[in-house]
This record gives sequence, C-alpha cells and structure tokens, in this order.
Amino acid sequence: MTVDPQAGRPMEYDLLFDFLRVVEAAAIEAARTMGQGDREYSDEVAVEKMREVMDTIPMLGTIVIGEGERDEAPMLYIGEKVGRGAREAVQNKYTEVDIAVDPLEGTNLCATGSDNAIAVLAAAEKGGLLHAPDIYMNKIVVGPSVKGAVDIDAPVSDNLNAIAKRLNRQVQDLTIVVLDRPRHEKLIQDIRDAGARIRLISDGDLSAGISAAVAGSGVHALMGIGGGPEGVITAAAMKCLNGEIQARFMMKEQMEIPKDRAKIADGIFDRMQAMGIKDPTRVYDTNELASGKKIIFAACGVTDGTILRGVRFFGTGKRTHSLIMTTETMHVRFVDTVHVEGGPDSFVRFDR
Ligand code: FBP
Repeated sequence: MTVDPQAGRPMEYDLLFDFLRVVEAAAIEAARTMGQGDREYSDEVAVEKMREVMDTIPMLGTIVIGEGERDEAPMLYIGEKVGRGAREAVQNKYTEVDIAVDPLEGTNLCATGSDNAIAVLAAAEKGGLLHAPDIYMNKIVVGPSVKGAVDIDAPVSDNLNAIAKRLNRQVQDLTIVVLDRPRHEKLIQDIRDAGARIRLISDGDLSAGISAAVAGSGVHALMGIGGGPEGVITAAAMKCLNGEIQARFMMKEQMEIPKDRAKIADGIFDRMQAMGIKDPTRVYDTNELASGKKIIFAACGVTDGTILRGVRFFGTGKRTHSLIMTTETMHVRFVDTVHVEGGPDSFVRFDR
C-alpha cells in the first residue's frame, strides 16, 4: 500500500497552504478580467482556475457549496469530487474534506473594477458545513466583542444599542453594512432612525461580514438578506475569527424574489429537505452553519477591499493579499505573496 507521507498530521498542515494557492490562483485569473464588464466570464475563469489547482491537492474533496447543481454547472457543482483523491484509483489514503467555494464573490464588483471582490473557500471534515442551497438568507454578523449580544429577531434599534454598548461607543459611531436592495428599505430606515451610519454596498456581503469581525476595519456589523451559500462561508470565517452570525433562510412566502432568481424558489422546500435541512424557517447560528471542528478558511483579494488588497500586476510578476485561517490553531494569517516570474533579474519590493 502506498504510504501517505502526510498521514497523521493535522489537517491544517496538510491543506492550509494548498488552499492558499487555490484562492490566489483564482483571484489572479479573475483580476485579469477586472473592468471588462463581463461578470460571467470573470466568474468562469475563476471557477476553472480554482478547480484546476484544487485537483493538484492531496485530498479527497467533495464540493458541498459551489457553482450550482450538477445539471447547471460544468464544474465545482454540488457533489463533485475534487482533489488528487478524485483522480486516482486508491482514494482512501487521502484526507476527506467537504468544501464550500465562491471562486469569485462579487462578480459585478470585478466586472466593474469596484472594491471588495474576493476568491474564497471554506473546508471542514465531512459534514462540517451546512449544505445550503442557493436561496436567500437573512443575516446578522458581528465580531468577537459583540458575540452573544445580538438577536436576529430583535428590533434593529435594540441590536444597534447592544452593539454600541459592547463596543463602548454611541450608536452614532457605528457603521453597519447593508446590501443596497429594495428589499432592505425598512431595514435601512430603521438603522437611519436609530442614528447609526450605513455603508450601502452593491454586492459582496460575504467579505463585508468578514470585515465586521476584524477590529479596525471600520465595519461593526452586517445586516440584511443575501445569499445562503455566502452565509455558510461567512460562518466558517466567524469560527476562525471568533465572531458570530445568525441567519434564517428566506422562502418565497417571506420576501419578494427578484425575477432573475425566481427559478431558485421552485421546489426549494424539497431540495432543502434532501440536503438535510429539516426546518428551513428557524434561525441558524454560527455552529449550526459551520459545525466542523477542523475548519479552514481562505480568501484572496481580487480588487482592493476593506481588509484585503486586490491583485497587483507588474512587469516581473504579481502580488496577492490573502487571509488564511483555521480553527485547529486559531492562527489568522494575512499573507502577502509576491509571485516572481521574471527570472534571475527579478526583484521584490518591500512596502510598509
Ligand atoms: P455574486 O458573487 O454571485 O456576484 O453574488 C454577489 C452577492 O452580492 C453576494 O455577496 C450576496 O450574498 C448576493 O449576491 C445577493 O444576491 P442578490 O444580488 O440577488 O441580491
């Protein structure tokens, strides 16, 4: 039997830096298309690259959150096996992992060269990530100091007061990120009435949620309805950053589903049951969305953003900025990688 040289080592050593390579490669590929105005193409190149690099990793991965169902996505579809283990006859020598991917979060942001597009993935031991379908989810995300103080069902003003109290400041000193959508008219009004500041974003509530858990980002909470898959990946990040997410799936009876997303509402109840979600109407907390004991999270900036810089291209290479972290060691690493390509005369510049 072939002996796996990495057997017995914690999952973080096995996979953390491999996943860093995956998000870096996807981010670089997407960043090449920045501002081209073609969000689908930007997504496509990120997906292809992510999958290509993933298949070099010594693991047996299963995509649990990805680009969609098998019949609608050519790769990184839900249930797809990835990694070297998926390509070789002897599979049991590899670590089995469940993987949630968003190869390009903020396809519009990339297509228009706007801030905060990222390439991102989360992984866990089998069963460690909720298999969330691509439907909407109402979310509240806060950082470590506010953990335990908010309740998604409480009035907005109560939550803002609780956040302000924990952060030892006035409500007027808070910045709350909200997706700029008609469905948030009341939420935005409630936040304004309470006196907090708002940053309305056109896309990207996953990266905004992560910012809420990083002190110094200037973001104190994310509130409102965004994608369910993004909610699970946010939960994985919260486990590593000691933050909190509370979330509830939004069924078509509870909100107006935009026309271009209408098909996702069809038969969703049955699909959710099949995915193991018995009561789709209840509130899920961080641990229920990402129950894994061994969670790995990796994100790389595509365009410049609140906590990550975008990909920079220069004559002899490129430079990426990523966030990689794991619950196994609780190490949160911001990784500044210079991908040197220019041969022996290349140089690496140091910026403070
Ligand atoms: P894409 O990465 O697919 O472009 O999604 C971006 C995003 O803004 C997410 O961050 C968010 O959760 C979701 O879309 C919101 O959905 P909608 O645009 O339908 O309101």
